[in-house]
Amino acid sequence: MTRDVALQLDEQIRTIRRLLHEASSVTILTGAGVSAESGIPTFRDAQTGLWAKYDPRELATPQAFARDPALVTRWYDERRRKCADCKPNPGHLALARLQDEFEAAGKGFTLITQNVDRLHQRAGSWNPLELHGTLWVWRCTTCGEEREERQIPFSAHPPRCGCGGMRRPGVVWFGETLPESVLAAAWQAAESCGLFMSLGTSSVVEPAASLGRVAAAGGAKTVEINPEATPLSSGVDVSVRGTTGSLLPMILSQD
Ligand code: APR
Repeated sequence: MTRDVALQLDEQIRTIRRLLHEASSVTILTGAGVSAESGIPTFRDAQTGLWAKYDPRELATPQAFARDPALVTRWYDERRRKCADCKPNPGHLALARLQDEFEAAGKGFTLITQNVDRLHQRAGSWNPLELHGTLWVWRCTTCGEEREERQIPFSAHPPRCGCGGMRRPGVVWFGETLPESVLAAAWQAAESCGLFMSLGTSSVVEPAASLGRVAAAGGAKTVEINPEATPLSSGVDVSVRGTTGSLLPMILSQD
């Protein structure tokens, strides 16, 4: 890192600290990048081993589950195993601490995540809005009952509900709509916050990608952290190139 880049980063960190200090409410949107430093493979990472020949964008669909529920469930078993082996990283832990600090100070805090791994909750965040659902809750395709499913691997593929129906993962598949109440709460939190932070997301998958623009239109200050530029970068007040696992602890430290 050159001296100029280091100075710019230092200035950006100080600006974000000030914005956090001044804001009476913050809304944070996280994406796969926040879990990258925990080792969670994203959809865009190459599939390995047995699964290399499958396209995840075709497996994560209602059509694939209807065609071959056993195959889709085995693929999710593999993803659940990988997630269970991973731990929250310093970025997740810093966000949990930030929530504690905001709430202790009586300030508004909303965490919105596109991640299905529940690492935020394992780090101590509570009540995040899970825009894309989670790998850990499975829903009966017949009666709709939802149940937390922690057994890895499942003893049956797919697991069965008490009513005899097949259970499917409680994630939002390609081609499906997001849970209405969760999306409405996320929209409202973006519209009404004083500070919006977009962390580790490519800002290309809608409707999450619009939340930053909604926040800015509502008058919020906006911050992005990502090692790469995204479609949101040019429109935010502060766009920092770097990883959330290293930058968030620096931003939230007291020095
Ligand atoms: N820290 C911060 N950002 C990172 C890091 C890191 N350590 N590593 C990678 N990134 C950034 C990448 O530069 C990229 O912009 O994280 C982003 C990850 O992008 P995506 O894989 O597109 O993840 P996301 O934006 O969460 O995708 C949204 O698309 O794959 C579907 O349903 C899936 O929820 C997911 C949705």
